[in-house]
Amino acid sequence: MVTGAARGIGARIAVELALSGAHVTALDARDPAETVAEITEAGGTAAGLWVDVTDRAAVAAAMATAGPRLDALVTCAAIYGSTASLASLPESEVDDVLGVNVKGTLWCIDGALPFLRGHDSRVVCIGSVAGKVGGVLAGPHYVASKGAVHAIVKWLAKTEAANGVLANAVAPGVVDTEMVRGKGYSADYNPLGRLARPEEIARVAAFLASPAASYVTGAVVDVNGGYAMG
Ligand SMILES: NC(=O)c1ccc[n+]([C@@H]2O[C@H](COP(=O)([O-])OP(=O)(O)OC[C@H]3O[C@@H](n4cnc5c(N)ncnc54)[C@H](O)[C@@H]3O)[C@@H](O)[C@H]2O)c1
Repeated sequence: MVTGAARGIGARIAVELALSGAHVTALDARDPAETVAEITEAGGTAAGLWVDVTDRAAVAAAMATAGPRLDALVTCAAIYGSTASLASLPESEVDDVLGVNVKGTLWCIDGALPFLRGHDSRVVCIGSVAGKVGGVLAGPHYVASKGAVHAIVKWLAKTEAANGVLANAVAPGVVDTEMVRGKGYSADYNPLGRLARPEEIARVAAFLASPAASYVTGAVVDVNGGYAMG
């Protein structure tokens, strides 16, 4: 189960997992049909679900379609919000960003856990370098939401290890997707001299979602081209 899988990093994760043999459910608030088509045309199997992660009941129903056994949940759905100063940030926008990025992540985990427990399974949440170093250009609500995602993963790793659920986050640097295009990001700051490509985040997420990551839990894995270390 991959959320935010209609485009960007989530779409690349869905394809990466499908090509490694997983049956993928691509969930998104926009139509995930393109991702499903890409997977099936490449010989994989996938289903699409058009669901808003802020709708707890709809998320629970969506997760149930993946039951009775779910091997991995990858949470990618998120919004960025504006880069306005805190003083000019509307409360509604803070609610929206925290609603999708934090509560949406919690609802997905809540809905998926019954189907993840009792066998070797994975949760991978896409966090951000913004949640570790206070952002590059991002606003305070987005930065707070990604720090929260990292904390949720650590909570989950502790509380669900006994049930066989391993939980990790990936903290990407700036990735060339719709989310950040036109927001003023340049590659100049990065030791590798370029932004990340979505598939470079997807490969790390797919490893963490795989049986191979059998002794990794509670980690926040940097994939930022050396922008921030440690
Ligand atoms: N692009 C970057 O530079 C960057 C850097 C660090 C972390 N991230 C994180 O990576 C993840 C993917 O981002 P992206 O760059 O691919 O962005 P994107 O905007 O291309 O993709 C985000 C996807 O989430 C979906 N989504 C948004 N709100 C939703 C909701 N309420 N319910 C269901 N789906 C919803 C969107 O429809 C979209 O398909 C996000 O968690 C983002 O915070 C991105």
